Amino acid sequence: MHSVCLREAQPQDFAQIAEIGIAAMIEDPLLAYFECRASPINPKENPEHTRALSSYIQFTLYSSWYAGGVIKVACAPSAHCIEPSTRTSLNQESVEERILAAAIWMPPRKRVSNFDPFTLLRSGGVSLAQNVGMAGLSRRWIEYPPIVEHSWKQAQWALEDGKNWSPLDTWSLTMAFTEPAYQGRGLMTTLIRDWISSVPGEGFTLQASTTRARDFFYRHFGFELLDRCKVGVGHASAKGLPETKGPGVELFTMLKRNVERKC
Ligand SMILES: CC(C)(COP(=O)(O)OP(=O)(O)OC[C@H]1O[C@@H](n2cnc3c(N)ncnc32)[C@H](O)[C@@H]1OP(=O)(O)O)[C@@H](O)C(=O)NCCC(=O)NCCS
Repeated sequence: MHSVCLREAQPQDFAQIAEIGIAAMIEDPLLAYFECRASPINPKENPEHTRALSSYIQFTLYSSWYAGGVIKVACAPSAHCIEPSTRTSLNQESVEERILAAAIWMPPRKRVSNFDPFTLLRSGGVSLAQNVGMAGLSRRWIEYPPIVEHSWKQAQWALEDGKNWSPLDTWSLTMAFTEPAYQGRGLMTTLIRDWISSVPGEGFTLQASTTRARDFFYRHFGFELLDRCKVGVGHASAKGLPETKGPGVELFTMLKRNVERKC
């Protein structure tokens, strides 16, 4: 892959990032479950099928941004990425930047509040509610938070020094994805590694919703798997689709400690 430019995204980038998110996360079981998807979706058949997924990803981008999150993107080289000394009016105008991968980080002690109506509204909460319905909102805001919280409690109990740290003290990776056509070229490895090395001494947490994502973060960055939990047990399949007596969607609670083990 040619050199990529890493930068922080701004709200004007969110529509483009959401497009990539839709393509990359279309089979994500947790998002399928949150949006109460009835069957697998095929955007080629009907672009309307991705409306709920799009509003969920846009909501995540805006709510994270308003709550102080950092959204890092990897882009194909563009006028933005060309050194000022080598910029010409020609290359400034002619090179279109293209975002290829994105990672949403929440800093220590900053999280999106589930109960801040102002943030929920200005992040697109109304559009999200229209697209996922009360059942979708209830899955995301009533069922999911205590399950994840319990998983972190279990994780802390299982660790020798679990009483000395809290997941709230870590950088939390809320979402990460790469445009499918550009996967496997090192973009996410570069994006995550760059951020981890830019905040030395910090810990990092995430909740992976696929074994592929779990293994990716374990292999490349040394995230440890601390606990597993499930949503939708008894009524959803492993893919997040309706299934009577289904096993539910499995989530992997993961931590990358800082070197001083403050977390
Ligand atoms: C998981 C995901 C984010 C990885 O993004 P990516 O940009 O493809 O990641 P990378 O290219 O850095 O690494 C992927 C693989 O390519 C390999 N790779 C790295 N650099 C490479 C290069 N220059 N050329 C070819 N392959 C390379 C890596 O070794 C890695 O292989 P492995 O994981 O099998 O060991 C991406 O697959 C994705 O968007 N998945 C859907 C969404 C998702 O699951 N997100 C994570 C949880 S929110």
